[in-house]
Amino acid sequence: MSDNLYDCKHLSKLYSQPANSLEVIKDLDLKVEKGTTLSLVGPSGCGKTTLLNILAGLDVPTSGEVNFLNINLSSLDSDSRATLRNKEIGFVYQFHHLLPEFNSQENVALPMMMSGYGKEQAMDRATILLDKVNLSNRVSNRPGELSGGERQRVAIARSLANNPSCLLMDEPTGNLDTLNAEIITNLVLDLVQQEGVSLIVATHDQSLAGRLDQTLNLELSL
Ligand SMILES: Nc1ncnc2c1ncn2[C@@H]1O[C@H](COP(=O)(O)OP(=O)(O)OP(=O)(O)O)[C@@H](O)[C@H]1O
Ligand SMILES: [Mg+2]
Repeated sequence: MSDNLYDCKHLSKLYSQPANSLEVIKDLDLKVEKGTTLSLVGPSGCGKTTLLNILAGLDVPTSGEVNFLNINLSSLDSDSRATLRNKEIGFVYQFHHLLPEFNSQENVALPMMMSGYGKEQAMDRATILLDKVNLSNRVSNRPGELSGGERQRVAIARSLANNPSCLLMDEPTGNLDTLNAEIITNLVLDLVQQEGVSLIVATHDQSLAGRLDQTLNLELSL
């Protein structure tokens, strides 16, 4: 068995539209070893979110293959991909995507309940995870009552819910001031070390990118 978390071969993504088509990712080969950290950097529109969505199995490449934990994602139907994703991948979106009608604890507990935890167990673990991101005092608040940095920390706690092998994060510090960005960066890197998970993060934040093991530079397609 290899130690690859990801082994992507000849990945391409073409967005076809009536007026024009755009090849955002071109013949990309990418290997990420388990337990390592990678930043995806490049100008706005170069394909960072597109690539993260493909790595998460939320989107499919136009050609090429994504092997995740030695499983070719295109060999799975969308239900099996969703099950694998819920168990093995924690995703932190560019815009946090918390459910507005649920409080912090419920937002963190939901992925666990979807993967078969009982409600009480899920809520207990949610409390522990919220403590890890220093939000013990905000468990009962809904996203609308939280600051941007606090919402991002709830999203990070949620991404760890099912003990994933890998965290995929899309601009986790993008909407934060420098101080809060540094708090989130330190927290994420501590959690990655404590939990032994791999991390792939799309970011414009050089101080975050500079602290990761590898960097993939994506370029704008013309
Ligand atoms: N569903 C879609 N259909 C057509 N074009 C799309 C679609 N999604 C993204 N694009 C285009 O693909 C390119 C890459 O988009 P993407 O969101 O991956 O960029 P990004 O690197 O994440 O940018 P940012 O730094 O602004 O978040 C952009 O030009 C975008 O307009
Ligand atoms: Mg993006």
